[in-house]
Amino acid sequence: MTEDIRTADDEQNAEVERELAWRAKSVGLAVLDVDDAELMHSWRSDPVVAHHMGIWPRSLTAVRERIERDIEDDDRDDFLILPHDGTPVGHVALTGQNIVNGTAQVELMLAAQHRGYGHATAALDALVDLAFGELPMYRVTAETHTDNAPALAVLAKSGFTREGISRAACLHRGRRHDLAVFSLLRPEWEELDRPRAWDA
Ligand SMILES: CC(C)(COP(=O)(O)OP(=O)(O)OC[C@H]1O[C@@H](n2cnc3c(N)ncnc32)[C@H](O)[C@@H]1OP(=O)(O)O)[C@@H](O)C(=O)NCCC(=O)NCCS
Repeated sequence: MTEDIRTADDEQNAEVERELAWRAKSVGLAVLDVDDAELMHSWRSDPVVAHHMGIWPRSLTAVRERIERDIEDDDRDDFLILPHDGTPVGHVALTGQNIVNGTAQVELMLAAQHRGYGHATAALDALVDLAFGELPMYRVTAETHTDNAPALAVLAKSGFTREGISRAACLHRGRRHDLAVFSLLRPEWEELDRPRAWDA
């Protein structure tokens, strides 16, 4: 279990109450905005995130410009994850949305000091409820390194099925890594025995 350390950034961000676009039992999702660039930049700089998400170092300006572009994109929705105390603890996104085929991918990262409290599973559950309950998605997918134990556990807990492996799909620190490919289909989501975000 990660130690509960609230940083100065956490305190500052918690003071600014965010409007929630989507509410679930233990977390809410707020639409990511350009002013969140510093937060995203600090989270992306974490070596664990860089390793597991294959993130290339970017300047704060580049992260800000990227968020600006992503906001303009119709095929993705990006959110900050906020537990009840209003502290932004991570980022979750539904990307590559294809309304014709009903397909999309999920991206998920938590700030290091906020891992291990169940926020990732809660945020992923909330996002898939949005994908299937508000958007006409049929198939939501996720990819992660085959050795990313926390991500594998979170995806399994949220009901995703491991489909297979993309062999040697990414390069990091001079080594090729296999990616585990996961999916959750609409009928499987319908069968999940848990309250939906809107039951909160
Ligand atoms: C993946 C990530 C979002 C998970 O965050 P988290 O806060 O640890 O997630 P949760 O607390 O909701 O759940 C973690 C689960 O993994 C389990 N877990 C953690 N480390 C584990 C390990 N080494 N081996 C096995 N299970 C492990 C926990 O026990 C927990 O399951 P439980 O609730 O049944 O006990 C976080 O580690 C992260 O941001 N990593 C970097 C970015 C990344 O890898 N993103 C994933 C791309 S899909």
